[in-house]
Amino acid sequence: MVVTPQTLFTGQQLLWLPECASTNTEAQALIVQNRASEGCTIITDFQTAGRGQRGNQWEAAPAENLMLSVVWQPTFLAAAQQFQLSQAVALGVHDWAATLLGADAKLKLKWPNDLYYGDQKLGGILIENTLSGPKIQYSVVGIGLNVNQQRFAQPTATSLGLLTGRAYAREALAARLLECLERRYLQLRAGQVGQLRRAYLQALYRYQETHSFLIEGQRVSGQIVGVEDDGRLAVAIGNELRRFGMQEIRHV
Ligand code: BTN
Repeated sequence: MVVTPQTLFTGQQLLWLPECASTNTEAQALIVQNRASEGCTIITDFQTAGRGQRGNQWEAAPAENLMLSVVWQPTFLAAAQQFQLSQAVALGVHDWAATLLGADAKLKLKWPNDLYYGDQKLGGILIENTLSGPKIQYSVVGIGLNVNQQRFAQPTATSLGLLTGRAYAREALAARLLECLERRYLQLRAGQVGQLRRAYLQALYRYQETHSFLIEGQRVSGQIVGVEDDGRLAVAIGNELRRFGMQEIRHV
């Protein structure tokens, strides 16, 4: 598979593996061996132990989707600023989808960083950071996107192919994704944090709408009013403003 992204460094070192346990694990192994340059990318057709958020597995049919990990060294970020990277990556993925589906209002980022079309998931992101004291040394940015897969076990999953009726060449999509990701990463590196924040809120699923959430096993009605610097979701519930981490709240 030949992928030729028009980037400065992202995906310039690229490995496309027929199969592996997890591209994040492969990327981490390269880091440990000192063989991962900035922007080094691992792509695979199939994962036997793909990882998702909240300790979930990530399952995808062989050779139909995009599963990749990018290694960056955002040493300009403090460990406490990890969410800024998560936000930039989510926006890169959102930009990528918008180039394929148009600037469709149904295309959203579900906090913290799932790609959604309407109420269905198109893709997810798992970022694993290596810290060196108070700084981030390496980030392994793992991304899974549903491209040509037609059938899913979960009714809440969809793919580009299901949405458009088209079949996609994954090499071209991978190149475009790497370009979109690098653009947002460079924006972050240039310190344009306010711009990234505004774009993220604009793309945020159910932002400023009243919906139900699951909090400590209870169904509660609330409105997302923002995201804190540390990534916690700020939700107005009645007269109260509460902030939640990933394990503490779910959309229902
Ligand atoms: C999620 O939504 O739960 C995150 C899914 C992330 C999946 C990708 S696929 C490529 C990379 N390797 C992994 O093991 N996970 C990520």
